[in-house]
Amino acid sequence: MQPKKYDIGMIGLGVMGLNLLLNMADHGYSAVGYDRVAARVRDLDRRRAPGHAIRGTGSPQECMALLKSPRIVVILVPAGPPVDAALRELLPLCRPADILIDCGNSHFTDTALRQKVLARKGIHFLGVGISGGEKGARRGPSIMPGGPREAYVWVKNIFEAIAADVRGEPCVAYLGPGAAGHFVKMVHNGIEYAMMQLIAEAYDLMKRGLGLDDDELADAFEQWDGRTFHAFLTEIAANIFRRVDAKTGKRLVDVILDEARQKGTGRWTSQAAMDLNIPVSVIDAAVAARDLSAFKAEREAASRILAGPPATLREHRKRVIGQIERALYAAILIAHAQGMVLLEAASSAHGYGLNLSEVARIWRGGCIIRSALLEEIMIGLRSRPDVPNLLVEPRLHREAASRRGDLQSIVCTAASLGIPVPSMMAALAYYDGYRSAWLPANLIQAQRDYFGAHTYERVDEKGVFHTRWEEP
Ligand code: 6PG
Repeated sequence: MQPKKYDIGMIGLGVMGLNLLLNMADHGYSAVGYDRVAARVRDLDRRRAPGHAIRGTGSPQECMALLKSPRIVVILVPAGPPVDAALRELLPLCRPADILIDCGNSHFTDTALRQKVLARKGIHFLGVGISGGEKGARRGPSIMPGGPREAYVWVKNIFEAIAADVRGEPCVAYLGPGAAGHFVKMVHNGIEYAMMQLIAEAYDLMKRGLGLDDDELADAFEQWDGRTFHAFLTEIAANIFRRVDAKTGKRLVDVILDEARQKGTGRWTSQAAMDLNIPVSVIDAAVAARDLSAFKAEREAASRILAGPPATLREHRKRVIGQIERALYAAILIAHAQGMVLLEAASSAHGYGLNLSEVARIWRGGCIIRSALLEEIMIGLRSRPDVPNLLVEPRLHREAASRRGDLQSIVCTAASLGIPVPSMMAALAYYDGYRSAWLPANLIQAQRDYFGAHTYERVDEKGVFHTRWEEP
């Protein structure tokens, strides 16, 4: 029995849109899916399970006409111009009080602009980050909503029903006005880049440095995940090393080209952080490492010109593997600390009013960076909501401080083997920089004043000073 009017519309029936719609239908919501591509509409019809009140259409007019008022419409199309194209198509069909929800990875500045333009027409626009890939969309993602609160109340129940669940708590929370949701999702992805790069560095050290084969690598990640990380990304690393390529019979990972691609959300995080003067060096290093990987032909040529130490270390394997595990944990914690500082700064600058322990809470399940560490971070931030940096929150401080020596040893080992570990190095340098009561920035100020009369402040007197450095 099809309803006369449906609860929700879905614009875009690609992988994410289709799966999110089916997830809503599983939870008793009726939904209309619209896509210009007829095959996708047919696919929706094929995937309808008994009890699903869903319908596909190739007409935006029909989609909008079939929705209850106010119309709640999710847009799930690639970020950028496709979102504007979808809005152009929908806008003539919208009435004041309708709620449009962009669930893609849109840039937060685009979301803020779209919100303003639509608000002038009385239309609510929510920018919502969704993490968890295809499986998450279908079975329970982490959902990061932002935008007008009065619009969120209309979708709260739907989001809570379809989100991942951690011990009875849905991994969704209203995060704040404006583009709060998309900003948080962007930083999630920045941390995702950092974690993936740090895991790749651990892999490189164990493969090239210690000579571990793929089974040994899978075993290491499996053990680490089971006893330390409980993280999606370490869990899938173990599975990846075991996967055999059907074509060659080799391990699939060994026939994958070593050039990482990116849609850009990690880079956006670094750019936004620079605009706010917040150091997120572990994320920056991860973005740069992906960029460097893309210079494959040049790297191959340079490998025949530039010399370095031999990348092999066969002694003390067991001890070094243990150190890598602890160094990886510390570096991942430092990446989260940087991401949280950025969120706090963005919250003040853009008026998001973010509750960081809630951000940690909704990242514990469903999303790509989910891990046991986020539970620790949530607890830490609940007890010390005003802590300026996770590294000085007492329990997280202990976790980082007790592993700093391992991070140092691993960075030294990597440097002596000529194996690049840029994100681990950045993590260690950030930790040491942050714990330095004195940094050599006084010399930078002196230089700026020397060549540009930029002035400096003194440690012993208030005010602004300039010296004519070349005069006696
Ligand atoms: C997620 C992912 C998802 C996607 C990114 C990664 O949270 O589910 O982050 O959003 O995989 O687009 O993209 P790139 O690695 O291509 O930048």
